[in-house]
Amino acid sequence: MDGMGVGVAPVRYSVETRWLHWSCAWLIGAQFVLGEAMHRVPRALHGPIVSVHLSLGVLLAALFVTRVAWRVTGGRAIRFAAGTGLAGRAAPLVHGGLYLMLGVEIALGYLARWSGGNPVEAFGAVIRSPFGPMSRETHHLFGSAHGWLAWAIIVLAGGHGAAALYHARVARDGVLRRMWA
Ligand code: HEM
Ligand code: HEM
Repeated sequence: MDGMGVGVAPVRYSVETRWLHWSCAWLIGAQFVLGEAMHRVPRALHGPIVSVHLSLGVLLAALFVTRVAWRVTGGRAIRFAAGTGLAGRAAPLVHGGLYLMLGVEIALGYLARWSGGNPVEAFGAVIRSPFGPMSRETHHLFGSAHGWLAWAIIVLAGGHGAAALYHARVARDGVLRRMWA
């Protein structure tokens, strides 16, 4: 069966891995909602929403770096081998794609802010741009790339969540349980 233990019972991901996965997932959902809302609310609410989006964005960036460091140093250990079927081969591609897109999305968020001539402010801390001034065109390019990539992440993460529910409800193979709280 796809993703099941190789000779050993499947074990759950550690509490750190599960915590990192779900805190990132919730933050990404919140960031998407705030991002989509920021241009649709009355003017007075735009600033506060951008400000919350920036603080949560910096928190997400810190969690993302921790998560990648945790992963590459072997912290994400679990005893299973991915299946060799289509789903087994697609899963690592989707997971790798999500990591890559998240990294780029976070970088684009900082660049979208800095290119507009503003610092990234998070929980009162001010992170100034290490770059010189940028043109209006560059600013718009970073902003729209950030907006489009947000949709791509939500679509891919939606497919990923649906696959997890398939594992839980149809395949009943414990894949969701090992990441569940
Ligand atoms: C996965 C994480 C994130 C998602 C899903 C996300 C999503 C979005 C969306 C949908 C928008 C609206 C884009 C548009 O105008 O169409 C937006 C705007 C923006 N985001 Fe993000 N974002 C994320 C992370 C970040 C981070 C880490 C930062 C920087 C620290 C950031 C900074 C910004 C800025 C500066 C804007 C433009 C605000 C303005 O118009 O004044 N975002 N984001
Ligand atoms: C923005 C939302 C999400 C993102 C970015 C995301 C990202 C990821 C990534 C990158 C992995 C691979 C972890 C690794 O091997 O290092 C993973 C694993 C996993 N995710 Fe998500 N995820 C999200 C939402 C969800 C949701 C909503 C569910 C369930 C309904 C879910 C269930 C799982 C499960 C069960 C695994 C473990 C898969 C396995 O052990 O083969 N994820 N997720």
